[in-house]
Amino acid sequence: MEPRFAGKVMLITGAASGIGAATARRFAREGARLVLGDLNESGLATVADELRSSGAEVAFQATDVSERTQVEALTQSAIDRFGRLDVLFNNAGTGVYGKTPDLEPEAWHTIIAVDLHSIFYGCRAAIPHLRRGGGGVIVNTASISGIRGDYGLAAYNAAKGGVVNYTRTLAIDHARERIRVNCVCPGPIETALTSPIFQASPAIVEEYAKLIPMGRIGRPEEIAGVVAFLASDDTSYVTGAAIVIDGGVTAATGQPNFTRFLEG
Ligand code: NAI
Repeated sequence: MEPRFAGKVMLITGAASGIGAATARRFAREGARLVLGDLNESGLATVADELRSSGAEVAFQATDVSERTQVEALTQSAIDRFGRLDVLFNNAGTGVYGKTPDLEPEAWHTIIAVDLHSIFYGCRAAIPHLRRGGGGVIVNTASISGIRGDYGLAAYNAAKGGVVNYTRTLAIDHARERIRVNCVCPGPIETALTSPIFQASPAIVEEYAKLIPMGRIGRPEEIAGVVAFLASDDTSYVTGAAIVIDGGVTAATGQPNFTRFLEG
């Protein structure tokens, strides 16, 4: 059987690490040609070398996704190299802790720029090419932090909430152009972004284990699989959705698990 994404051209941001790198591996295995962007150029080169050695066609370009012109240049590089674009995975992102009174306005602006403006820049640059190719798929990385509040994550919650609702507008604006737009909302996933938190104390991992109904932190590959599903024809009628991938975290109300006490 032909690989699912044979010949498709996919652009991934934040591809040097974590969820982006895992998704690049998944799509390369399934036949896609890849264009990778990230701030971290040496990390990109490492991922690209690995994928090329397994036979994939891969281009990469150092890109700051908070800069419109750099996102446009990355998108154009996909067209220059492969002549088309089929799938865009707007995934690069970062976070900063700080309650509102303590948050420097510069830090707020940076998070909104990296996590939200980037999605606008990516979609604005890509949609004309997707249209020209007769349609396509966009997947944005939001977060469960885009649908619930977190203690001390003011800017990140605002940006990711924006990603969730902006995804809906993109979906309805471009549905008739055969462009499907969805977002993934990961829960806690072990990556470079989160490992400093998880590694800060064994108590944090224990607290997470209590909080997550499945009892464990997720793996980047578990997000990549859902991105591949959303990019595939199996979801040909899915657009505007925010898919939670969180081991059950947001299925719970947040109340303590009293059954532990009742069961004795
Ligand atoms: P990661 O740190 O492993 O990967 C993020 C990548 O984005 C890095 O390679 C980094 O260099 C790149 N990046 C950061 N700022 C950038 C910029 N201005 N321009 C270009 N590239 C930039 O982290 P992870 O976890 O793989 O994060 C990917 C996405 O998943 C982010 O949007 C994050 O907010 C989101 N997410 C992660 C969760 C987790 O628990 N790890 C949970 C929910 C969402």
